[in-house]
Amino acid sequence: MGFEPSQRVAEIESFKVMDLLKRAKQLDAEGFDVVHMEAGEPDFATAPPIAEAAKAAIDTGLTQYTPAAGIPELRQAISDWYQQRYNLDISPERIIVTTGASSALLMIFALLTDGGQSFMMADPGYPCNRQFLRFLEAKTQLVSVDAEQNFQLTSELVKQNWQTNTAGVLLASPANPTGAVVHRDELAEIAMQVKNCGGSLVVDELYHGLTYEQDTPSVLELDQNAFVINSFSKYFGMTGWRLGWLVAPMDAAPELEKLAQNLMISPHTVSQYAALAAFKPETIQILEQRKEEFRKRRDLLVSGLRELNFDLPITPEGAFYVYAGAQHLTDNTFDYCWSLLEEDHIATTPGRDFGQHRCDQFIRFSYTTGLDRIELALERLQKRIRG
Ligand SMILES: Cc1ncc(COP(=O)(O)O)c(C=O)c1O
Repeated sequence: MGFEPSQRVAEIESFKVMDLLKRAKQLDAEGFDVVHMEAGEPDFATAPPIAEAAKAAIDTGLTQYTPAAGIPELRQAISDWYQQRYNLDISPERIIVTTGASSALLMIFALLTDGGQSFMMADPGYPCNRQFLRFLEAKTQLVSVDAEQNFQLTSELVKQNWQTNTAGVLLASPANPTGAVVHRDELAEIAMQVKNCGGSLVVDELYHGLTYEQDTPSVLELDQNAFVINSFSKYFGMTGWRLGWLVAPMDAAPELEKLAQNLMISPHTVSQYAALAAFKPETIQILEQRKEEFRKRRDLLVSGLRELNFDLPITPEGAFYVYAGAQHLTDNTFDYCWSLLEEDHIATTPGRDFGQHRCDQFIRFSYTTGLDRIELALERLQKRIRG
């Protein structure tokens, strides 16, 4: 290397699955019929009303910077969404539009942690959070969770693990990679516990809208001081448009806006005008149909994996992932996922990407592919396991 990377960057980890993804694409190019269950994004193209709104924005010349916190119309539309969906009155001034949940997470961690402080979160969990904190010279405090805790932090775990340098707690509900949801009573207790400890609660509500048992409450129904992350990526099917938002307490919003000005100047202009169409009834109708499709896929995948004795004590309630225990097949799912790809042409994500706790026993299957493809993957798995 002609340069010395900073200690900070040297310690940032890449996604371990990247090589596997590269190989899966290579196999596609070589003409193999790979079933793709590794992707963390909907397979559906963005809904037509959103795409049309983007085209209209370009045609009208709406291509310049916007205010750093987003165009007022979109902040108002998101505020209306909270009213419609959660019966919540959230002032648009508390809403900051971001370039995906990713930059919202980075900004909130930057706001809430000084160097050396830590944020508590569940292991397994979304890997980038740990890297964001490292980037900010802060620390991640991973707390191991299993099916007994519904793969989520509990108020008891928060209490037991709180340390003097803990700045706050991050929950994701529904979660990646487990699809697990924090239910209302537990969420209220966690919020109370975090408050009693003097910390901040951040809830990543990115997979809201994609729940198949009951609607998930927003933490804002229970605690107006919590910070919320959300995005147009998953339910709204706009991953590539790089648009999300955060909701902050009123007094935190100007600080975050200041950060947004410096880090982004503004979120993507065309994407913001496109997103105005995301809340239209005709779009929601399409998104709800897609959600029903996800539910069918989940049911097929969960029952197929259980049939093959994968360890799935809890049915995942949301997102589009199944985090399946494969300890009956291997004690090293990283190698196992590689051989699933090479020999059976099924692309999945090994547990190692999501943390350390029992990670080599788990495989994440994404149901971001059609029912026929899931059936094919299950057939291939059955053949491999049962011969
Ligand atoms: C839990 C979680 N949070 C945040 C993100 C980032 O999403 P985006 O930046 O596309 O909004 C992801 C992406 O997969 C995720 O799974």
